[in-house]
Amino acid sequence: MMSDKAPDLIVHNSSLVVTMAGSAPRRGAEQGEIAAVADAAVAITGDRIAEVGPEKRVLDSADRHTRLIDVDGRMILPGYIDAHTHPVYGGDRTDEFIARLRGADYEDIHAAGGGIQATVRATRELSVSRLVEEARPRLARMMSNGVTTFEAKSGYGLDVPSELRQLQAIRELDQSGPWELVPTFMGAHTLPDEFKDDRAGYIELVVEKMLPQVEALDLADFCDVFCERGAFDVDESREILEAGKRHGLTPRVHADELSPSGGTKLGVEVGARSVDHLPFIDDESVELLADSDTTAILLPATTFFLMKDRYAPGRRLVDAGVIVAVASDHNPGSSHTLSLERALELAVMRCGLSVEEALAAVTINAAYALEHQGRLGSLEPGKQADLIITDVTRPEQLIYGWGVNHITGVIKRGKMINRRRHRLQHRQHKESRGFSHLFGD
Ligand code: NIG
Ligand code: FE
Repeated sequence: MMSDKAPDLIVHNSSLVVTMAGSAPRRGAEQGEIAAVADAAVAITGDRIAEVGPEKRVLDSADRHTRLIDVDGRMILPGYIDAHTHPVYGGDRTDEFIARLRGADYEDIHAAGGGIQATVRATRELSVSRLVEEARPRLARMMSNGVTTFEAKSGYGLDVPSELRQLQAIRELDQSGPWELVPTFMGAHTLPDEFKDDRAGYIELVVEKMLPQVEALDLADFCDVFCERGAFDVDESREILEAGKRHGLTPRVHADELSPSGGTKLGVEVGARSVDHLPFIDDESVELLADSDTTAILLPATTFFLMKDRYAPGRRLVDAGVIVAVASDHNPGSSHTLSLERALELAVMRCGLSVEEALAAVTINAAYALEHQGRLGSLEPGKQADLIITDVTRPEQLIYGWGVNHITGVIKRGKMINRRRHRLQHRQHKESRGFSHLFGD
């Protein structure tokens, strides 16, 4: 649908625009339908997509005020959506990583008071503005790798003020960045040290103190729990997620990651929007998921970084008709990458998704997992103009040339955020001044 007004911006001369137009979410055979248009252009008015169509027709809608960006034949995609990240934290876990390289096990480190707890200690030290400062370059790097929207979790505070500070930092990052963030409260990430002999006491703190304040300050959309041995069992997780629902938060679950935790079944039972991880999902849970509207979010970069060989059964999930998304799980311990493209590669090469299925998993299905499929995740008239320009011409080349950043341009809400000029030599555009100083590459 064309409006009378000429577009503000036309991104053109693309050999292939992957639109992801059509049903949201995708499941089963539809997961691989990317609705690509060959030799196409994208017209943008304000922060919205005005039209995606054949080069000539779209260019005909330009007037002398329309800015043109020539992508030199390269493929255009909807901006990636990273539907599972923990980007706000203090400190780093290099020493833990070195210990793991020498054979130490992630769960043993956690049980001994390291792991998540180490990050909690470092995060509690930081003010909201320091948390923002630490997270900003991470998000910038992730955005230069194509991510335009992030889900972001708390869970490294584990006391009332520190959890609230983390969520306030997420809000400030959302309001000040070129990106957008969708906040998740994860007070039930693990049991903090001071409650190690009082599980019920900590759950009471989450339910009676944290959740009411999160709701009162409107700091989160979702409530997540780590349902795993060494963290919270199914009954504890249920109690927290049900309380979250009473405070207006939709459940999500870290499920079946290191053992068959029952987290997927619980997620379906409580109506979670997503269950995430899933290497240890059982057959019954796959069936339950296939009959539900809960998204399976695969986090294969975590499996890789923990040097495990059991990846989530992505192929089986898609074939069963489960809604499948893929995310980075960026965090300082179990998945320290800042590139969603690494997760995309592993989703294809280790979880058995086709390239097209994996692309739907980081766009339209990830938008669905965040309850924003009506506004984000595809390039269709009326949707938000979040798109990325690659340095390739076919989807498979994103994986064929693995291990590098294929994103040469990022447009968020109709504004060019960053453009790597050394790859494609085109005019610098006015908008690109705004945030380019944030990007390392
Ligand atoms: O998703 N699994 C629980 N939480 C994170 C790990 C957090 C950490 O190790 O700091 C995850 O992998
Ligand atoms: Fe996680």
